[in-house]
Amino acid sequence: MDKTFDMFWETEVPENELIISRTDLKGIITYVNETFARISGYEPEELIGKPHSIIRHPDMPKSIFKDLWETIKQGKTWRGYIKNLRKDKGYYWVYAEMSGVYKNGELVEFKSMRSPVSKEKKKQMQDLYDRMREKEGGDVRVVMYLPKAVYDRLESLSERLGISGEEVLSRLLSEAKI
Ligand SMILES: Cc1cc2nc3c(=O)[nH]c(=O)nc-3n(C[C@H](O)[C@H](O)[C@H](O)COP(=O)(O)O)c2cc1C
Repeated sequence: MDKTFDMFWETEVPENELIISRTDLKGIITYVNETFARISGYEPEELIGKPHSIIRHPDMPKSIFKDLWETIKQGKTWRGYIKNLRKDKGYYWVYAEMSGVYKNGELVEFKSMRSPVSKEKKKQMQDLYDRMREKEGGDVRVVMYLPKAVYDRLESLSERLGISGEEVLSRLLSEAKI
């Protein structure tokens, strides 16, 4: 079953540890370090050979990746904030730097390094990306804090009915006489 609420678990990205990946020219992962694998919740061998979009989070606007690819293909470095999707559907924010790897002047691969993001910046970027996705005409989700008891009731309803938490909420709302 689709467990919508899993998507709210955040993994903190450690300070002082490098998070590295490399891709071929099409964005297929060719290398990840141990820290990258741990934070994304995958084993390195589950990532190598897969498109980097395996960790793409639905909250990311399309235009960010368009800008990223245009920048690195021009031989420049792209820097920006990315919300990534973990294997368990949780998420983690990174500040990423991506650029080309050259051999004898020829572009052969792309590399990226990531570092942690402050709480304030994450909030700011979530807002910005929500607005960007709205403009792009995509799905927009918002993050809401609920009292634990309410959340627990939603989760148990979702399990009992075999539908996602999101579906429970939309059914409740469509039945509510308010
Ligand atoms: C070196 C490198 C690192 C990348 N790192 C990420 C990343 O951490 N998260 C992500 O969602 N996309 C990353 N991308 C971009 C993906 O290749 C892809 O464009 C993106 O996930 C959007 O998916 P889509 O192009 O299929 O729409 C990276 C690309 C390169 C070249």
